[in-house]
Amino acid sequence: MAEKSFKYVIVGGGVAAGYAAREFARQGVKPGELAIISKEAVAPYERPALSKAYLFPEGFARLPGFHVCVGSGGERLLPEWYKENGIELILGTEIVKADLAGKALISAAGDAFKYQTLIIATGSSVIRLTDFGVQGADAGNILYLRDIDDADKLINAIKAKKNGKCVIVGGGYIGLELSAVMKMNNFDVTMVYPEPWCMPRLFTAGLAAFYEGYYANKGINIIKGTVATGFTADATGDVKEVKLKDGRVLESDIVVVGVGGRPLITLFKGQLEEEKGGIKTDGFFKTSNPDVYAVGDVATFPLKLYNEIRRVEHVDHARKSAEQAVKAIKASEEGKFIEEYDYLPYFYSRSFDLSWQFYGDNVGETILFGDNNPVVPKAKFGTYWIKDGKVVGAFLENGTPEENKAIAKVARVQPPVESLEQLKAEGLAFASKI
Ligand code: FDA
Ligand code: NAD
Repeated sequence: MAEKSFKYVIVGGGVAAGYAAREFARQGVKPGELAIISKEAVAPYERPALSKAYLFPEGFARLPGFHVCVGSGGERLLPEWYKENGIELILGTEIVKADLAGKALISAAGDAFKYQTLIIATGSSVIRLTDFGVQGADAGNILYLRDIDDADKLINAIKAKKNGKCVIVGGGYIGLELSAVMKMNNFDVTMVYPEPWCMPRLFTAGLAAFYEGYYANKGINIIKGTVATGFTADATGDVKEVKLKDGRVLESDIVVVGVGGRPLITLFKGQLEEEKGGIKTDGFFKTSNPDVYAVGDVATFPLKLYNEIRRVEHVDHARKSAEQAVKAIKASEEGKFIEEYDYLPYFYSRSFDLSWQFYGDNVGETILFGDNNPVVPKAKFGTYWIKDGKVVGAFLENGTPEENKAIAKVARVQPPVESLEQLKAEGLAFASKI
Protein backbone atom coordinates (compact mmCIF):
# COMPACT_ATOMS: atom_id res chain seq x y z
CA MET A 1 0.00 0.00 0.00
CA ALA A 2 1.42 3.35 -1.08
CA GLU A 3 1.76 6.43 1.12
CA LYS A 4 1.99 9.94 -0.27
CA SER A 5 2.40 13.25 1.53
CA PHE A 6 1.21 16.68 0.51
CA LYS A 7 1.12 20.08 2.14
CA TYR A 8 -2.50 20.54 1.04
CA VAL A 9 -5.07 17.90 0.17
CA ILE A 10 -8.54 18.58 -1.19
CA VAL A 11 -10.87 15.60 -0.78
CA GLY A 12 -13.56 15.72 -3.47
CA GLY A 13 -13.05 16.79 -7.06
CA GLY A 14 -16.15 18.80 -7.90
CA VAL A 15 -16.93 22.48 -8.31
CA ALA A 16 -15.39 23.69 -5.05
CA ALA A 17 -12.22 21.64 -5.58
CA GLY A 18 -11.68 23.14 -9.03
CA TYR A 19 -12.13 26.72 -7.89
CA ALA A 20 -9.89 26.05 -4.86
CA ALA A 21 -7.17 24.76 -7.21
CA ARG A 22 -7.35 27.92 -9.30
CA GLU A 23 -7.08 30.06 -6.17
CA PHE A 24 -4.08 28.03 -4.94
CA ALA A 25 -2.40 28.61 -8.31
CA ARG A 26 -3.14 32.34 -8.10
CA GLN A 27 -1.75 32.56 -4.58
CA GLY A 28 1.24 30.38 -5.50
CA VAL A 29 1.75 26.68 -4.81
CA LYS A 30 4.96 24.80 -5.42
CA PRO A 31 4.88 21.64 -7.56
CA GLY A 32 3.86 18.65 -5.47
CA GLU A 33 2.34 20.70 -2.63
CA LEU A 34 -1.33 20.25 -3.59
CA ALA A 35 -3.37 17.15 -4.43
CA ILE A 36 -7.04 16.74 -5.31
CA ILE A 37 -8.44 13.29 -4.57
CA SER A 38 -11.69 12.52 -6.37
CA LYS A 39 -13.97 9.56 -6.68
CA GLU A 40 -14.87 10.77 -10.17
CA ALA A 41 -12.75 9.75 -13.16
CA VAL A 42 -12.58 13.26 -14.64
CA ALA A 43 -11.08 16.62 -13.66
CA PRO A 44 -13.43 19.08 -11.87
CA TYR A 45 -16.28 20.34 -14.02
CA GLU A 46 -19.25 22.67 -13.76
CA ARG A 47 -21.87 20.28 -12.34
CA PRO A 48 -24.90 22.45 -13.36
CA ALA A 49 -24.31 21.51 -17.01
CA LEU A 50 -25.39 17.93 -16.26
CA SER A 51 -29.08 18.76 -15.87
CA LYS A 52 -29.09 21.20 -18.79
CA ALA A 53 -26.94 21.23 -21.96
CA TYR A 54 -25.38 17.79 -21.27
CA LEU A 55 -28.80 16.22 -21.86
CA PHE A 56 -29.90 18.28 -24.88
CA PRO A 57 -30.92 16.12 -27.86
CA GLU A 58 -28.89 18.37 -30.16
CA GLY A 59 -25.97 20.74 -29.64
CA PHE A 60 -25.21 19.05 -26.34
CA ALA A 61 -22.28 19.92 -24.07
CA ARG A 62 -19.52 17.39 -23.46
CA LEU A 63 -16.22 17.46 -21.60
CA PRO A 64 -13.74 19.03 -21.94
CA GLY A 65 -16.17 21.86 -22.82
CA PHE A 66 -17.38 22.53 -19.27
CA HIS A 67 -14.47 21.91 -16.96
CA VAL A 68 -14.23 24.56 -14.24
CA CYS A 69 -13.90 27.57 -14.30
CA VAL A 70 -15.94 28.36 -17.45
CA GLY A 71 -19.22 28.54 -15.55
CA SER A 72 -18.33 31.91 -14.05
CA GLY A 73 -16.65 33.31 -17.15
CA GLY A 74 -13.13 32.10 -16.34
CA GLU A 75 -10.63 30.01 -18.24
CA ARG A 76 -11.23 26.26 -18.48
CA LEU A 77 -8.96 24.19 -16.25
CA LEU A 78 -8.18 21.23 -18.51
CA PRO A 79 -6.41 18.18 -17.03
CA GLU A 80 -3.15 19.59 -18.48
CA TRP A 81 -3.57 22.76 -16.44
CA TYR A 82 -3.17 20.79 -13.20
CA LYS A 83 0.01 19.18 -14.58
CA GLU A 84 1.43 22.52 -15.67
CA ASN A 85 0.77 23.92 -12.21
CA GLY A 86 2.28 20.97 -10.37
CA ILE A 87 -1.10 20.01 -8.87
CA GLU A 88 -1.65 16.29 -8.52
CA LEU A 89 -5.08 15.10 -9.69
CA ILE A 90 -5.73 11.73 -8.10
CA LEU A 91 -8.85 10.57 -9.93
CA GLY A 92 -11.06 7.50 -9.63
CA THR A 93 -10.03 7.29 -5.99
CA GLU A 94 -12.57 7.09 -3.21
CA ILE A 95 -11.50 8.01 0.30
CA VAL A 96 -13.09 5.55 2.72
CA LYS A 97 -11.43 6.57 5.98
CA ALA A 98 -10.33 9.90 7.41
CA ASP A 99 -8.05 9.97 10.43
CA LEU A 100 -7.93 13.65 11.29
CA ALA A 101 -5.82 13.11 14.44
CA GLY A 102 -3.22 11.26 12.35
CA LYS A 103 -3.67 13.74 9.42
CA ALA A 104 -4.23 10.92 6.95
CA LEU A 105 -6.84 9.77 4.44
CA ILE A 106 -7.14 6.17 3.31
CA SER A 107 -8.48 5.21 -0.11
CA ALA A 108 -10.63 2.19 -1.03
CA ALA A 109 -7.47 0.60 -2.51
CA GLY A 110 -5.76 1.05 0.88
CA ASP A 111 -3.41 3.89 -0.10
CA ALA A 112 -2.64 6.55 2.50
CA PHE A 113 -2.55 10.27 1.81
CA LYS A 114 -0.97 12.46 4.48
CA TYR A 115 -1.59 16.20 4.63
CA GLN A 116 -0.76 19.28 6.66
CA THR A 117 -3.95 21.12 5.72
CA LEU A 118 -7.10 19.40 4.49
CA ILE A 119 -9.99 20.92 2.53
CA ILE A 120 -13.18 18.86 2.58
CA ALA A 121 -15.12 19.34 -0.67
CA THR A 122 -17.11 16.12 -0.89
CA GLY A 123 -20.41 17.79 -1.88
CA SER A 124 -23.72 15.93 -1.66
CA SER A 125 -25.13 12.59 -2.64
CA VAL A 126 -28.69 12.03 -3.80
CA ILE A 127 -31.43 10.79 -1.50
CA ARG A 128 -32.67 7.50 -2.97
CA LEU A 129 -36.19 6.11 -2.82
CA THR A 130 -34.63 2.83 -1.64
CA ASP A 131 -33.37 4.80 1.43
CA PHE A 132 -36.95 4.92 2.67
CA GLY A 133 -37.98 1.51 1.42
CA VAL A 134 -40.21 2.43 -1.53
CA GLN A 135 -41.28 -0.93 -2.94
CA GLY A 136 -39.63 -1.86 -6.26
CA ALA A 137 -37.41 1.25 -6.27
CA ASP A 138 -34.37 -0.80 -7.30
CA ALA A 139 -35.85 -1.58 -10.76
CA GLY A 140 -33.80 -0.73 -13.86
CA ASN A 141 -34.11 2.77 -15.36
CA ILE A 142 -35.08 4.39 -12.05
CA LEU A 143 -32.35 7.00 -12.30
CA TYR A 144 -30.77 9.79 -10.23
CA LEU A 145 -28.51 12.63 -11.29
CA ARG A 146 -25.44 13.74 -9.40
CA ASP A 147 -22.40 13.08 -11.56
CA ILE A 148 -21.34 12.45 -15.11
CA ASP A 149 -21.76 8.66 -14.79
CA ASP A 150 -25.39 9.20 -13.76
CA ALA A 151 -25.90 11.55 -16.72
CA ASP A 152 -24.43 8.97 -19.12
CA LYS A 153 -26.77 6.30 -17.73
CA LEU A 154 -29.69 8.60 -18.42
CA ILE A 155 -28.48 9.28 -21.98
CA ASN A 156 -28.25 5.52 -22.61
CA ALA A 157 -31.78 5.06 -21.27
CA ILE A 158 -33.06 7.92 -23.47
CA LYS A 159 -31.58 6.14 -26.52
CA ALA A 160 -32.92 2.73 -25.46
CA LYS A 161 -36.45 3.95 -24.71
CA LYS A 162 -36.73 6.44 -27.59
CA ASN A 163 -39.94 8.55 -27.57
CA GLY A 164 -41.15 6.67 -24.48
CA LYS A 165 -42.81 7.67 -21.24
CA CYS A 166 -40.96 9.30 -18.37
CA VAL A 167 -42.09 9.99 -14.80
CA ILE A 168 -40.18 12.60 -12.84
CA VAL A 169 -40.40 12.16 -9.07
CA GLY A 170 -39.82 15.46 -7.25
CA GLY A 171 -40.76 19.07 -7.89
CA GLY A 172 -37.52 20.82 -6.95
CA TYR A 173 -34.53 21.83 -9.05
CA ILE A 174 -33.89 18.39 -10.56
CA GLY A 175 -37.62 17.83 -11.11
CA LEU A 176 -38.09 21.07 -13.06
CA GLU A 177 -34.86 20.94 -15.05
CA LEU A 178 -35.12 17.23 -15.89
CA SER A 179 -38.77 17.27 -16.93
CA ALA A 180 -37.86 20.04 -19.39
CA VAL A 181 -34.91 18.15 -20.93
CA MET A 182 -36.86 14.89 -21.07
CA LYS A 183 -39.61 16.71 -22.95
CA MET A 184 -36.99 18.18 -25.30
CA ASN A 185 -35.90 14.57 -25.87
CA ASN A 186 -39.42 13.82 -27.04
CA PHE A 187 -40.57 11.85 -24.00
CA ASP A 188 -44.10 11.91 -22.69
CA VAL A 189 -43.38 13.49 -19.28
CA THR A 190 -45.32 13.40 -16.01
CA MET A 191 -44.05 15.15 -12.86
CA VAL A 192 -45.15 13.93 -9.43
CA TYR A 193 -44.54 15.79 -6.18
CA PRO A 194 -46.17 15.95 -2.77
CA GLU A 195 -46.46 19.71 -2.28
CA PRO A 196 -49.24 22.03 -3.50
CA TRP A 197 -46.81 23.71 -5.92
CA CYS A 198 -43.36 23.20 -7.41
CA MET A 199 -40.09 24.35 -5.81
CA PRO A 200 -41.81 25.22 -2.53
CA ARG A 201 -38.55 25.96 -0.77
CA LEU A 202 -38.20 29.09 -2.90
CA PHE A 203 -41.23 29.74 -5.08
CA THR A 204 -44.36 31.50 -3.89
CA ALA A 205 -47.69 30.22 -5.20
CA GLY A 206 -47.67 33.07 -7.74
CA LEU A 207 -44.23 32.22 -9.11
CA ALA A 208 -45.02 28.50 -9.23
CA ALA A 209 -48.28 29.18 -11.13
CA PHE A 210 -46.27 30.60 -14.03
CA TYR A 211 -43.80 27.69 -14.24
CA GLU A 212 -46.52 25.05 -13.84
CA GLY A 213 -48.62 26.77 -16.52
CA TYR A 214 -45.63 27.06 -18.85
CA TYR A 215 -44.74 23.38 -18.38
CA ALA A 216 -48.36 22.32 -18.91
CA ASN A 217 -48.37 24.30 -22.19
CA LYS A 218 -45.28 22.37 -23.24
CA GLY A 219 -47.30 19.18 -22.72
CA ILE A 220 -45.89 18.12 -19.36
CA ASN A 221 -48.44 16.49 -17.04
CA ILE A 222 -48.20 17.61 -13.42
CA ILE A 223 -49.57 15.53 -10.54
CA LYS A 224 -49.36 17.32 -7.21
CA GLY A 225 -50.10 16.37 -3.63
CA THR A 226 -49.04 12.73 -3.86
CA VAL A 227 -45.93 10.55 -3.89
CA ALA A 228 -44.63 7.40 -5.57
CA THR A 229 -45.21 4.47 -3.24
CA GLY A 230 -44.07 1.61 -5.46
CA PHE A 231 -42.90 0.46 -8.87
CA THR A 232 -43.48 -2.60 -11.04
CA ALA A 233 -40.89 -3.95 -13.47
CA ASP A 234 -41.06 -5.80 -16.80
CA ALA A 235 -39.51 -9.21 -17.48
CA THR A 236 -36.07 -7.60 -18.02
CA GLY A 237 -36.20 -5.86 -14.64
CA ASP A 238 -36.76 -2.38 -16.10
CA VAL A 239 -39.37 -0.13 -14.53
CA LYS A 240 -42.82 -0.43 -16.11
CA GLU A 241 -45.26 1.35 -13.79
CA VAL A 242 -45.20 3.92 -11.02
CA LYS A 243 -47.79 3.43 -8.29
CA LEU A 244 -48.92 6.60 -6.55
CA LYS A 245 -50.22 6.98 -3.02
CA ASP A 246 -53.52 8.36 -4.34
CA GLY A 247 -54.11 5.04 -6.17
CA ARG A 248 -53.18 6.13 -9.67
CA VAL A 249 -50.78 4.01 -11.71
CA LEU A 250 -48.57 5.60 -14.39
CA GLU A 251 -46.82 3.73 -17.18
CA SER A 252 -43.16 4.62 -17.38
CA ASP A 253 -40.05 3.58 -19.34
CA ILE A 254 -37.75 5.87 -17.38
CA VAL A 255 -38.14 7.36 -13.92
CA VAL A 256 -35.91 10.24 -12.85
CA VAL A 257 -35.86 10.91 -9.13
CA GLY A 258 -34.94 14.28 -7.60
CA VAL A 259 -36.06 14.22 -3.98
CA GLY A 260 -33.15 16.15 -2.52
CA GLY A 261 -29.51 15.83 -1.58
CA ARG A 262 -27.58 14.94 1.54
CA PRO A 263 -24.12 16.37 2.32
CA LEU A 264 -21.37 13.72 2.32
CA ILE A 265 -19.84 14.07 5.77
CA THR A 266 -19.93 10.56 7.25
CA LEU A 267 -16.14 10.17 6.84
CA PHE A 268 -15.69 12.82 9.52
CA LYS A 269 -18.41 11.74 11.99
CA GLY A 270 -17.31 12.34 15.57
CA GLN A 271 -14.15 14.14 14.44
CA LEU A 272 -15.58 17.56 13.55
CA GLU A 273 -18.38 19.71 14.95
CA GLU A 274 -21.55 19.56 12.87
CA GLU A 275 -24.56 21.81 12.56
CA LYS A 276 -27.66 21.92 10.36
CA GLY A 277 -26.62 18.70 8.63
CA GLY A 278 -23.19 20.00 7.61
CA ILE A 279 -19.69 20.55 8.97
CA LYS A 280 -19.61 23.68 11.11
CA THR A 281 -17.11 26.31 9.97
CA ASP A 282 -16.20 29.90 10.75
CA GLY A 283 -16.29 32.75 8.22
CA PHE A 284 -13.00 31.44 6.77
CA PHE A 285 -14.36 27.88 6.35
CA LYS A 286 -12.12 26.58 9.10
CA THR A 287 -13.74 23.68 10.97
CA SER A 288 -13.46 22.79 14.66
CA ASN A 289 -10.07 21.25 13.73
CA PRO A 290 -7.69 24.14 12.84
CA ASP A 291 -5.97 22.16 10.07
CA VAL A 292 -9.22 21.21 8.37
CA TYR A 293 -11.44 23.39 6.17
CA ALA A 294 -14.83 22.51 4.65
CA VAL A 295 -16.33 24.22 1.58
CA GLY A 296 -19.27 23.99 -0.81
CA ASP A 297 -22.35 21.88 -0.05
CA VAL A 298 -20.88 20.34 3.14
CA ALA A 299 -20.12 23.61 4.99
CA THR A 300 -22.46 25.16 7.55
CA PHE A 301 -21.07 28.69 7.76
CA PRO A 302 -21.95 32.09 9.24
CA LEU A 303 -24.12 34.02 6.80
CA LYS A 304 -23.06 37.44 8.02
CA LEU A 305 -25.81 39.35 6.22
CA TYR A 306 -28.52 37.53 8.22
CA ASN A 307 -26.51 36.85 11.37
CA GLU A 308 -27.30 33.16 11.04
CA ILE A 309 -25.48 29.99 10.25
CA ARG A 310 -26.55 28.13 7.13
CA ARG A 311 -25.67 25.52 4.58
CA VAL A 312 -26.09 26.36 0.88
CA GLU A 313 -26.30 23.75 -1.90
CA HIS A 314 -25.63 25.94 -4.92
CA VAL A 315 -22.77 26.45 -7.30
CA ASP A 316 -22.03 30.15 -6.68
CA HIS A 317 -21.37 29.45 -3.01
CA ALA A 318 -19.27 26.36 -3.86
CA ARG A 319 -17.03 28.58 -5.99
CA LYS A 320 -16.80 31.47 -3.56
CA SER A 321 -16.39 29.41 -0.38
CA ALA A 322 -13.51 27.52 -2.02
CA GLU A 323 -11.76 30.75 -2.93
CA GLN A 324 -12.31 32.16 0.55
CA ALA A 325 -10.88 29.04 2.25
CA VAL A 326 -7.72 29.08 0.12
CA LYS A 327 -7.22 32.81 0.70
CA ALA A 328 -7.66 32.22 4.44
CA ILE A 329 -5.18 29.30 4.48
CA LYS A 330 -2.56 31.36 2.63
CA ALA A 331 -3.20 34.46 4.75
CA SER A 332 -2.81 32.54 8.01
CA GLU A 333 0.51 31.09 6.78
CA GLU A 334 1.74 34.58 6.00
CA GLY A 335 0.34 36.16 9.17
CA LYS A 336 -2.02 38.31 7.09
CA PHE A 337 -5.67 39.17 7.66
CA ILE A 338 -8.59 38.71 5.27
CA GLU A 339 -12.21 39.75 5.65
CA GLU A 340 -14.77 37.24 6.90
CA TYR A 341 -17.01 35.62 4.21
CA ASP A 342 -19.91 37.93 3.49
CA TYR A 343 -22.17 35.97 1.18
CA LEU A 344 -25.28 37.12 -0.65
CA PRO A 345 -27.26 33.96 -1.49
CA TYR A 346 -27.65 33.56 -5.25
CA PHE A 347 -29.67 30.77 -6.89
CA TYR A 348 -30.68 30.36 -10.52
CA SER A 349 -32.18 27.88 -12.91
CA ARG A 350 -32.70 27.51 -16.64
CA SER A 351 -35.08 25.28 -18.60
CA PHE A 352 -36.65 25.53 -22.06
CA ASP A 353 -36.20 29.22 -22.90
CA LEU A 354 -36.77 30.25 -19.28
CA SER A 355 -34.12 31.64 -16.99
CA TRP A 356 -34.55 33.01 -13.49
CA GLN A 357 -32.29 34.41 -10.81
CA PHE A 358 -32.87 34.92 -7.12
CA TYR A 359 -30.79 36.87 -4.62
CA GLY A 360 -31.10 37.26 -0.87
CA ASP A 361 -33.48 35.68 1.59
CA ASN A 362 -36.99 34.36 0.86
CA VAL A 363 -38.59 35.33 4.16
CA GLY A 364 -41.41 37.71 5.12
CA GLU A 365 -44.21 39.10 3.00
CA THR A 366 -44.10 38.91 -0.79
CA ILE A 367 -45.31 40.93 -3.72
CA LEU A 368 -45.44 39.70 -7.30
CA PHE A 369 -44.70 42.21 -10.08
CA GLY A 370 -44.87 42.06 -13.86
CA ASP A 371 -46.91 39.74 -16.02
CA ASN A 372 -46.75 36.09 -14.94
CA ASN A 373 -49.16 34.83 -17.57
CA PRO A 374 -47.53 31.65 -18.91
CA VAL A 375 -48.84 32.18 -22.43
CA VAL A 376 -47.10 35.55 -22.80
CA PRO A 377 -43.92 35.02 -24.85
CA LYS A 378 -40.75 35.99 -22.98
CA ALA A 379 -42.75 36.91 -19.88
CA LYS A 380 -40.87 39.14 -17.45
CA PHE A 381 -41.99 39.11 -13.84
CA GLY A 382 -40.62 38.75 -10.36
CA THR A 383 -41.14 38.83 -6.65
CA TYR A 384 -39.76 40.83 -3.73
CA TRP A 385 -39.62 39.47 -0.20
CA ILE A 386 -40.12 42.12 2.49
CA LYS A 387 -39.16 41.69 6.14
CA ASP A 388 -39.26 44.33 8.87
CA GLY A 389 -40.11 46.99 6.25
CA LYS A 390 -37.09 46.19 4.07
CA VAL A 391 -36.69 44.28 0.81
CA VAL A 392 -34.56 41.22 1.67
CA GLY A 393 -35.00 39.01 -1.40
CA ALA A 394 -35.64 39.45 -5.11
CA PHE A 395 -36.53 37.04 -7.92
CA LEU A 396 -36.64 37.81 -11.62
CA GLU A 397 -37.58 35.71 -14.64
CA ASN A 398 -36.01 36.63 -17.97
CA GLY A 399 -33.90 39.52 -16.67
CA THR A 400 -31.17 41.20 -18.70
CA PRO A 401 -27.68 41.18 -17.13
CA GLU A 402 -28.26 44.76 -15.91
CA GLU A 403 -31.66 43.90 -14.42
CA ASN A 404 -30.22 40.87 -12.64
CA LYS A 405 -27.45 43.08 -11.26
CA ALA A 406 -30.12 45.49 -10.03
CA ILE A 407 -32.06 42.80 -8.11
CA ALA A 408 -28.79 41.53 -6.61
CA LYS A 409 -28.07 45.05 -5.39
CA VAL A 410 -31.52 45.38 -3.85
CA ALA A 411 -31.04 42.14 -1.91
CA ARG A 412 -27.66 43.30 -0.66
CA VAL A 413 -28.67 46.89 0.20
CA GLN A 414 -32.07 45.93 1.69
CA PRO A 415 -33.79 49.28 0.98
CA PRO A 416 -36.80 50.28 3.12
CA VAL A 417 -40.28 50.03 1.60
CA GLU A 418 -42.98 52.54 2.40
CA SER A 419 -45.90 50.85 0.75
CA LEU A 420 -46.30 47.37 -0.68
CA GLU A 421 -48.80 48.71 -3.25
CA GLN A 422 -46.25 51.21 -4.49
CA LEU A 423 -43.54 48.54 -4.62
CA LYS A 424 -45.84 46.31 -6.66
CA ALA A 425 -46.67 49.17 -9.02
CA GLU A 426 -43.00 50.10 -9.47
CA GLY A 427 -41.93 46.48 -9.93
CA LEU A 428 -38.52 46.15 -11.53
CA ALA A 429 -38.14 49.96 -11.68
CA PHE A 430 -37.78 49.91 -7.87
CA ALA A 431 -34.65 47.73 -8.19
CA SER A 432 -33.25 49.66 -11.12
CA LYS A 433 -33.16 52.95 -9.17
CA ILE A 434 -31.28 51.55 -6.14
P1 FDA B 1 -19.63 18.61 -5.84
O1 FDA B 1 -20.75 17.66 -5.77
O2 FDA B 1 -19.51 19.48 -7.02
O3 FDA B 1 -18.26 17.78 -5.75
C1 FDA B 1 -18.03 16.79 -4.78
C2 FDA B 1 -16.96 15.87 -5.30
O4 FDA B 1 -16.48 15.06 -4.24
C3 FDA B 1 -17.45 14.90 -6.37
O5 FDA B 1 -16.49 14.84 -7.38
C4 FDA B 1 -17.53 13.57 -5.62
O6 FDA B 1 -17.38 12.46 -6.46
C5 FDA B 1 -16.35 13.72 -4.69
N1 FDA B 1 -16.37 12.86 -3.50
C6 FDA B 1 -17.37 12.72 -2.60
N2 FDA B 1 -17.01 11.85 -1.63
C7 FDA B 1 -15.75 11.45 -1.93
C8 FDA B 1 -14.85 10.55 -1.31
N3 FDA B 1 -15.16 9.90 -0.18
N4 FDA B 1 -13.63 10.36 -1.89
C9 FDA B 1 -13.30 11.01 -3.03
N5 FDA B 1 -14.13 11.87 -3.65
C10 FDA B 1 -15.34 12.09 -3.11
N6 FDA B 1 -26.43 24.86 -8.47
C11 FDA B 1 -26.74 26.08 -8.98
O7 FDA B 1 -26.56 27.08 -8.29
N7 FDA B 1 -27.25 26.20 -10.23
C12 FDA B 1 -27.49 25.12 -11.01
O8 FDA B 1 -27.99 25.26 -12.13
C13 FDA B 1 -27.17 23.82 -10.49
N8 FDA B 1 -27.41 22.71 -11.24
C14 FDA B 1 -27.11 21.47 -10.72
C15 FDA B 1 -27.35 20.34 -11.49
C16 FDA B 1 -27.10 19.07 -10.97
C17 FDA B 1 -27.38 17.86 -11.80
C18 FDA B 1 -26.59 18.93 -9.66
C19 FDA B 1 -26.31 17.57 -9.09
C20 FDA B 1 -26.34 20.06 -8.89
C21 FDA B 1 -26.59 21.34 -9.42
N9 FDA B 1 -26.35 22.49 -8.69
C22 FDA B 1 -26.63 23.73 -9.21
C23 FDA B 1 -25.74 22.41 -7.36
C24 FDA B 1 -24.22 22.57 -7.45
O9 FDA B 1 -23.72 21.84 -8.55
C25 FDA B 1 -23.58 22.11 -6.16
O10 FDA B 1 -24.03 22.93 -5.11
C26 FDA B 1 -22.06 22.18 -6.27
O11 FDA B 1 -21.59 21.28 -7.25
C27 FDA B 1 -21.40 21.87 -4.93
O12 FDA B 1 -20.03 21.85 -5.09
P2 FDA B 1 -19.13 20.90 -4.17
O13 FDA B 1 -17.74 21.03 -4.70
O14 FDA B 1 -19.43 21.17 -2.75
O15 FDA B 1 -19.65 19.43 -4.48
P1 NAD C 1 -34.67 19.84 -4.00
O1 NAD C 1 -34.47 19.95 -2.55
O2 NAD C 1 -34.55 21.05 -4.86
O3 NAD C 1 -36.10 19.25 -4.29
C1 NAD C 1 -36.55 18.10 -3.67
C2 NAD C 1 -38.01 17.94 -4.01
O4 NAD C 1 -38.34 16.61 -3.77
C3 NAD C 1 -39.02 18.71 -3.17
O5 NAD C 1 -39.33 19.94 -3.69
C4 NAD C 1 -40.24 17.81 -3.23
O6 NAD C 1 -41.07 18.22 -4.27
C5 NAD C 1 -39.71 16.51 -3.63
N1 NAD C 1 -40.00 15.36 -2.78
C6 NAD C 1 -39.55 15.11 -1.54
N2 NAD C 1 -39.95 13.88 -1.16
C7 NAD C 1 -40.63 13.35 -2.20
C8 NAD C 1 -41.26 12.12 -2.44
N3 NAD C 1 -41.27 11.14 -1.53
N4 NAD C 1 -41.85 11.92 -3.64
C9 NAD C 1 -41.84 12.89 -4.58
N5 NAD C 1 -41.24 14.06 -4.40
C10 NAD C 1 -40.65 14.29 -3.23
O7 NAD C 1 -33.64 18.69 -4.49
P2 NAD C 1 -33.29 18.14 -5.93
O8 NAD C 1 -34.14 18.79 -6.95
O9 NAD C 1 -33.27 16.67 -5.84
O10 NAD C 1 -31.80 18.64 -6.14
C11 NAD C 1 -30.71 17.95 -5.53
C12 NAD C 1 -29.55 18.90 -5.31
O11 NAD C 1 -29.08 19.40 -6.55
C13 NAD C 1 -29.86 20.09 -4.45
O12 NAD C 1 -28.72 20.36 -3.67
C14 NAD C 1 -30.05 21.20 -5.44
O13 NAD C 1 -29.73 22.46 -4.90
C15 NAD C 1 -29.06 20.81 -6.52
N6 NAD C 1 -29.50 21.32 -7.84
C16 NAD C 1 -29.57 22.66 -8.01
C17 NAD C 1 -29.95 23.17 -9.22
C18 NAD C 1 -30.01 24.66 -9.38
O14 NAD C 1 -29.60 25.38 -8.47
N7 NAD C 1 -30.49 25.17 -10.52
C19 NAD C 1 -30.28 22.32 -10.26
C20 NAD C 1 -30.23 20.94 -10.06
C21 NAD C 1 -29.83 20.45 -8.83
